[in-house]
Amino acid sequence: MHDTGEWQALSSHRQALDEVHLRDLFDGDPLRGERLAAETDGLLLDYSKNRLTDETVALLSALADRAELRGQIEALLDGEPVNTTEDRPAWHAALRRPDPPPEVGLEFDRMAAFAAEVRDGRWDAVVNIGIGGSDLGPAMATAALGAYADPGLDVRFLSNVDGAHFGAVTRGLDPARTLFIVVSKTFTTVETLTNARTARAWVADAVGPEQAGGHFAAVTASPDKAHSFGIDADAVFAMWDWVGGRYSLGSAVGLSLMITVGPDAFADMLAGMHQIDEHFRTAPWAENLPALLGLIGIWNRNFWGWPTLAVLPYAQELALFPAYIQQLDMESSGKSVLADGTPAVTATGPVVWGQPGTNGQHAFHQLLHQGTDIVPVEFIGLCRPNHSHIEHHDLLMANLFAQVEALAFGAPDAGDPHQQFSGNRPSTVLLADQLTPRTLGQLVALYEHKVFTQATVWGINPFDQWGVELGKTLATDIAAELTGAAHPNPARDSSTQSLINRYLSRR
Ligand code: F6P
Repeated sequence: MHDTGEWQALSSHRQALDEVHLRDLFDGDPLRGERLAAETDGLLLDYSKNRLTDETVALLSALADRAELRGQIEALLDGEPVNTTEDRPAWHAALRRPDPPPEVGLEFDRMAAFAAEVRDGRWDAVVNIGIGGSDLGPAMATAALGAYADPGLDVRFLSNVDGAHFGAVTRGLDPARTLFIVVSKTFTTVETLTNARTARAWVADAVGPEQAGGHFAAVTASPDKAHSFGIDADAVFAMWDWVGGRYSLGSAVGLSLMITVGPDAFADMLAGMHQIDEHFRTAPWAENLPALLGLIGIWNRNFWGWPTLAVLPYAQELALFPAYIQQLDMESSGKSVLADGTPAVTATGPVVWGQPGTNGQHAFHQLLHQGTDIVPVEFIGLCRPNHSHIEHHDLLMANLFAQVEALAFGAPDAGDPHQQFSGNRPSTVLLADQLTPRTLGQLVALYEHKVFTQATVWGINPFDQWGVELGKTLATDIAAELTGAAHPNPARDSSTQSLINRYLSRR
């Protein structure tokens, strides 16, 4: 893309904006705030406080056309093999269609029946065991939709292989009344299987080994492995190789969420996702929220050169949303090879980070306002809370509005240089009416398609993650050495070897 006329036009245009301050852009254009915004089904995207103009949007739209984004969206949503390095579709959109493929509809019905049974049944607690995409989505969504939860059920998430996590998550639970859901697409992930085995022993100690299997359900694309683990076929839910882990919340990976909020609320979330899928497919670029978010991401990353992105929800219920988006974006976009195997010559994914406001204001906003690096921010706010403490909500939102204003316009005239705020720091605001299951579905799909938009322009495949494999292989080898099952590797570097030696002599 970097050698196209569209890319070059954006480069020159960016240089022309070098000295332009957001104050100038707003002062000279009273309608800027209303115009540089887009809305779909109650979700507003205000992107006016980015360092761009109407011309930028037109040039970015031309870049999207040049990257054939429209055709790529069709291919994505219609289940074509867009995951080219693994030669399969990335068809998460099929999970939320009103007319899903038959196997998807069947699995939804099985999940709904199982969820209803669990909600009425003999369990006090449900523990989801999984990691990465098999944890972050359901954990994030279960926290986000706490207002819709069955108050009688304690739903927890166990991910880290650190035994401290097992201890913390099971603390206070009765093994005789706890159901574990082992979620692993591959059913080979060492953290998940280690936790699952420990959980099985913990249950077996209380109820006996014969009964322990009945305390387990599984979600996997490898049902045979789940059966071998001792999980009954009735309690094994399918996912398919065309559902990527970080795109899997709408599949049976969301079973713990469905148990928490019920099948109807889960279906509402799917409907919100589908609404964004269709919006992404049909809306013109200047009105297309995921495309705009992605194209502005390209603008900030490639043309301004800003290396990180903060995602800051002003909603405590969305506390895990930045971590969820971090996996979605960084595992998808952290690539230095294009889909065709050639090296990337432009920057790809930024470092994505964040935590909820207003807490972050008392931690890292100092750097956002006065640091030497510019950090674009995506703020997420809600017009109506899911609680009755309106005074708190007004204060929360006042802080969000104040932050975007301070970042954009600053306060340059203070006499003391330490108290000057240069402003001109870009931010985007997503404003939804209320955090409902539908809204959450919209937000998830919005970010999925933002990532897809960026990947399409960069020419990378966002649906593989080969970069996680080397660490897994090395950890397996080193684990064998730590337990004495293998001899030290003589080829190992001196630093790693002396760390291992010190660990072994002191553990
Ligand atoms: O971290 C790598 C990864 O493969 C993620 O992409 C995935 O979400 C996670 O591990 C868990 O994988 P699985 O669901 O197969 O246990």
